[in-house]
Amino acid sequence: MAPSVIELAPSVLAANFAHLGADARAAIEAGGTLLHVDVMDGHFVPNITFGPPVVAALRKAVPGVPLDCHLMIENPDEFIPAFAEAGADWISVHQEACIHLDRTLHLIASLGCRPGVVINPATPVYTVEHVLDIVHHVLVMSVNPGFGGQKFIRGSLKKIETLASIRESRGLAYRIEVDGGVALDTVGDIVRAGAEVLAAGQGVFGHSDIRENASKLLHAARAAVLTRA
Ligand code: DX5
Ligand code: ZN
Repeated sequence: MAPSVIELAPSVLAANFAHLGADARAAIEAGGTLLHVDVMDGHFVPNITFGPPVVAALRKAVPGVPLDCHLMIENPDEFIPAFAEAGADWISVHQEACIHLDRTLHLIASLGCRPGVVINPATPVYTVEHVLDIVHHVLVMSVNPGFGGQKFIRGSLKKIETLASIRESRGLAYRIEVDGGVALDTVGDIVRAGAEVLAAGQGVFGHSDIRENASKLLHAARAAVLTRA
């Protein structure tokens, strides 16, 4: 059955790295229920972020909060065990980066983590249809991966709707997560399309008060649930 509980996953990519732990805690105290951790390798995406040691540090900074590790890397199988060891809870890999996607998802599950698959804005939903029964979450990129603070790509709404409808018709329970440009002006449409996990960087950490941003975003998302068709 479709999960309907809205979850906010603050994306620490937009946090102040000089006080990462404090920023992460503030976002969680304001209602974030998991922490989105963007791992970039400079190959799959044109940017580099962090690896397992930072995940291990976050694990200590926010004990008990699931770490949602979004791997934007080539050859993810080589690194998945290290992220699992560092304390990742959810691990998602890009469809575009995995030659043997089914195998990679099983590897994640075998290490006790929740496997997720990610699709880029240009990747159609049908490319992941045959793994929907083995994933815990599907992450729909609503910007091209690599950077925070980009404009939301509205074409992703249709893909969220398609995933919600497949979930319903096949009786599956994967969560639909959206990543990129999630903010007060987009979150209503995102939730109405059928997503329930909201990864947000700039929308939480980008301006003024982290707690206020996170709680306003959650409030807007929960209000939108009531206006779903
Ligand atoms: C982009 C990352 C996102 C990023 C989103 O490649 O996957 O998680 O943090 O940033 P915002 O919410 O600022 O668009
Ligand atoms: Zn991400």
